[in-house]
Amino acid sequence: MEPIVELKNIVKQFPGVLANDHVNLSLYPGETHALVGENGAGKSTLMKILYGQYVPDEGEILIDGKPCRYDVTGARQHKIGMVYQNFMQIPQMSILENIILGNAPLKRGMIDYASAEKKVQSYLERFRMPVSPNTLLQNLSVGERQKIEIIKVLYFDARILILDEPTAVLTPQESEELFQIIKTLKEEQRSIVFISHKLREVIAVGDRITVMSKGRVVQDGWTRGNVTETEIARAMIGKQNVQLIQNQCEKAPGDTILRLNRLWYFDELGIPRLRDLSFQVRSGEILGIGGVEGNGQTELIRILIGMLRPSYGEILVGEEDLTGASVAKRRQAGIGFVSDDRMTEGLVLDGTIEDNVIAGNEYDAEFSDHFLLKYGQIREYCKNLIDEYDIKGLTSGKHVKMLSGGNMQKIILAREIERNPKVLIAAQPTRGLDIGAINSVRELLLEQKMAGTAVILVSADLEELMSLSDRMIILFEGSISGEVTDMKHVTEEEIGLMMGGAKDHAE
Ligand SMILES: Nc1ncnc2c1ncn2[C@@H]1O[C@H](COP(=O)(O)OP(=O)(O)O)[C@@H](O)[C@H]1O
Ligand SMILES: [Mg+2]
Repeated sequence: MEPIVELKNIVKQFPGVLANDHVNLSLYPGETHALVGENGAGKSTLMKILYGQYVPDEGEILIDGKPCRYDVTGARQHKIGMVYQNFMQIPQMSILENIILGNAPLKRGMIDYASAEKKVQSYLERFRMPVSPNTLLQNLSVGERQKIEIIKVLYFDARILILDEPTAVLTPQESEELFQIIKTLKEEQRSIVFISHKLREVIAVGDRITVMSKGRVVQDGWTRGNVTETEIARAMIGKQNVQLIQNQCEKAPGDTILRLNRLWYFDELGIPRLRDLSFQVRSGEILGIGGVEGNGQTELIRILIGMLRPSYGEILVGEEDLTGASVAKRRQAGIGFVSDDRMTEGLVLDGTIEDNVIAGNEYDAEFSDHFLLKYGQIREYCKNLIDEYDIKGLTSGKHVKMLSGGNMQKIILAREIERNPKVLIAAQPTRGLDIGAINSVRELLLEQKMAGTAVILVSADLEELMSLSDRMIILFEGSISGEVTDMKHVTEEEIGLMMGGAKDHAE
């Protein structure tokens, strides 16, 4: 059989990053090709090239054996469709309108709604969604909205479907449903590129498996049944040790440090994003906050650090009411924060380590003398931090944007930890890092716990939450759908049910 698509020697350079370094990939009719790799490996870039969104610097794309050059419109004519990692939809519009946007069948220059509606209806039935095509998107769950994205692509009869981390926004149960859909698409001889970094899924879905790392294909030719999760993991991260650090501490937590009482938050449209949220975190405890992304985690974090005001409820650290306090006031009260957006929120990229370490601390007596910053002292202090936190590739005066993600994260952690926070909020602290850096971050969080800090870990990575948390709560549509106090005996499936909204308290 001839491949339907061949990517040959694709090169794509971004400022400072070689995102695709002579990549080859082929796709056959009726095949699901799993593309795996850590964050930043270059998977999305490669697929955006296939989808006509980026022009490669070098290399060529063959479709049905013929070299082709095209943009996104051209990609659709070649019957290539993509479901993005962060799909964009218009929630105030109906399913039908979202699907035919830019996709409408014309009848004498007019949109033929009747035939479009019929077609969409039949897809909804096929995907077991018992709703009308006129339902507004805002009334659907994320899993259902993803199905709409797939229907959008099938609507123009795509024969090549690119699914970029489709399960990142799904519960384990919803993922299972997606796999069933993929199976039926294969039966219709459609080809699928399935991107994921969850090994179990890759093994379950991929007919062939290709592993990328740092812009390159490091493994290809693996077929289903001929490779284990461990082998894939090794290929993803190179030859290093795959053992990740776990929380093995038996020490009981101390006093309650942070209290949230009956917190509500309504967004600008009046939609409740947090509903009556109450929980506490104790000294020496890591509280994991889980849930499918978009269920209130972002709002909760922003409220905790003072970037959003809650609509109702209170936040206390010790006896101090911080509900209306500014970001600066909260820092003084002992709240430390590791942002999930280290590139724009966590760091001043054009600054040096000195600029970054003193940001937010510029009025500390150690660093300033009322009006003047004590540069000598600051430089000395940073030198010690670089040693202590093992920040590689950095010298005094060099801009931090030249660093790897792991080393950037270490600077942020160093800055926050050196303030001896009472509460440390870590949002997706290891996302996109390589395994060495992941372990450094995990170690630092565990050290903070041992030092008596109340640690809040918000993560989309269930494995990480389960390995580090002393206790977990799960958010679903802005409220707590479950709490896990016995981390030793809970299963991923049980947490998965809570992520999907099933009320449950695993004890
Ligand atoms: N538009 C862009 N501009 C600059 N750098 C980018 C852009 N898109 C991706 N990158 C960089 O290219 C590398 C590969 O990214 P990506 O293809 O998104 O990886 P993956 O999908 O495997 O996580 C990363 O280092 C990323 O930061
Ligand atoms: Mg990606």
